[in-house]
Amino acid sequence: PRLEFEVFTIFPEIIEAFVGAGLMAKAQERDLVRVHTTNFRDFTSDKHRTVDDTPFGGGAGMVIKPEPVVAALESVEAERGPMHRVLLTPSGPRFDQRAAERLARKPRIALLCGRYEGIDDRVREGWVDECLSIGDFVLNGGEVAAAVLIEAVARLRAGVLGNPDSIAHESFAAPEPELESESELGPASPFLGGQVLEHPHYTRPPSFRDRGVPPVLLAGDHGKIEAWRRRLACLRTWALRPQLRPKPPLPPELPRLLAA
Ligand code: ADE
Repeated sequence: PRLEFEVFTIFPEIIEAFVGAGLMAKAQERDLVRVHTTNFRDFTSDKHRTVDDTPFGGGAGMVIKPEPVVAALESVEAERGPMHRVLLTPSGPRFDQRAAERLARKPRIALLCGRYEGIDDRVREGWVDECLSIGDFVLNGGEVAAAVLIEAVARLRAGVLGNPDSIAHESFAAPEPELESESELGPASPFLGGQVLEHPHYTRPPSFRDRGVPPVLLAGDHGKIEAWRRRLACLRTWALRPQLRPKPPLPPELPRLLAA
């Protein structure tokens, strides 16, 4: 089952450079992922190929005109089939690991990249399935946001990563259903949505510029190692991500998880 992205942008070279390297390039060579780019400047009809105009109501900046965007969308759908249409914008709901998991189940995803002050909002009202923001900061355009989304979604598809097993243990991975219901240790994490940051990782050498490695990791007791990793994941999440802390009453296992 191949995953297809259709990216709509006036800077296709940004997306093409990104998908032309590393695991994204490999995934495309193996035809697990396809990324097409469409320049909506090619769907203008004036001789200056104008994609933007001044905002109605006045104010700074320029707004992308709706006609070339919708013409590009309709042309691509007519040629290659329907798509789940996503608009990248800082004024959308946050893109997170849950959203990546949800999008990884779609066969074809359109990513619309704005520039300047954004795309005429009638596009969002009439031709877009959802808006997504990659964070509370403003980029010059949606291309880097689209690249972030493509990488996060594509790597969830089996085969893009070397080891699909490693996905389940990453920061923010959703708890596995079997673990949640059957484990004697309780839910995968006491944090909201079972989301938890990853524990620290170390490799050789055991001493680097006077910095050692937590001794428990070198002692070979796998029960103790698992307990230490859980504790450090919880400590990190508690300290760094206060919004993921469980609401009172606190789960009874929390003190034990956080204790040394
Ligand atoms: N375009 C500009 N800034 C963005 C952001 N933070 N997320 C998604 N698209 C954007």
